[in-house]
Amino acid sequence: MPQPRKIIIDTDPGQDDAVAILLALGSAELDIVGISVVAGNVPLKLTEKNARKICELAGRPDIDVYAGAIRPLIRELVTAEEVHGKTGLNGPQLPEPTMKLQEQYAVDFIVETLMKEESGTITLCALGPLTNVALAMIREPRIASRIKEIVLMGGGFFEGGNVTPAAEFNIYVDPHAADIVLKSGVPIVMMPLDVTHKALTTAKRTQAFRALGTKVGLATADMLEFFERFDEEKYGTDGGPLHDPCVIAYLLKPDLFKGRSCNVSVETASELTMGMTVIDWWGVTKRPKNAMVMRDIDHDGFFALLVERLGRL
Ligand code: BDR
Ligand code: CA
Repeated sequence: MPQPRKIIIDTDPGQDDAVAILLALGSAELDIVGISVVAGNVPLKLTEKNARKICELAGRPDIDVYAGAIRPLIRELVTAEEVHGKTGLNGPQLPEPTMKLQEQYAVDFIVETLMKEESGTITLCALGPLTNVALAMIREPRIASRIKEIVLMGGGFFEGGNVTPAAEFNIYVDPHAADIVLKSGVPIVMMPLDVTHKALTTAKRTQAFRALGTKVGLATADMLEFFERFDEEKYGTDGGPLHDPCVIAYLLKPDLFKGRSCNVSVETASELTMGMTVIDWWGVTKRPKNAMVMRDIDHDGFFALLVERLGRL
């Protein structure tokens, strides 16, 4: 087997972040160098604790978890308790974590890792607002040319937004950070709502996690049942979109996704459309292509991969 691909997961768990972390932990092709946590779905104190809870659920207290930015670069923090519950991880009863949070600041960890490891070997998987990633780029601009790739969940175009009519949550929370990342020149793969809204946690799929009968399988089913209730009502669908695991699934099986390379720009000025990702899908401008934007997913293949990999934990 080739050397596992080294990744840093930057995240704000969140049930769908949690499933993404579990997918990575269940996949020997990936080597999680560390998990950097950011404020987003809930405040940082909860997101960092949730990340540790998930590592312990998977029996991996050896994974290093770092706390990063407590708030976005410029705007006030907006959270999403209405979706994720008060703790950010409502659903299963998970014990308080006993593994320690690393002392190093997540932004320093990202910079140090990228400067220390061989250039072009570290992939950043961004599952939340891009504050930590942007801060790392500001702190040490040389990291940009050393990052292999950033695969991120964020944005939306034909599908519109989920927190405002124009904006998706991760980009809306820190549009200025997203703007910095999209202008960084780093190869970017983007999983917008156009993809994730096709990855629905139907009752049958949730049941497949429960049927694993393991601690991880049962907790995942409990998380998804809580998480999907909000979106089921909002969209009138069987199940809710399972956003963040699309990022990790792409690293494992890129052929599950289809998209095209285009220019993506972020609105940072207008309050009405703040955080909107303006995607030049039809190539009507000469703006440089800065991201591979996905639009389609083989959703059955995606859920089959998830159940199989979580079944290994
Ligand atoms: C994104 O926002 C969060 O609520 C989810 O964890 C996901 O990263 C979807 O818009
Ligand atoms: Ca997230």
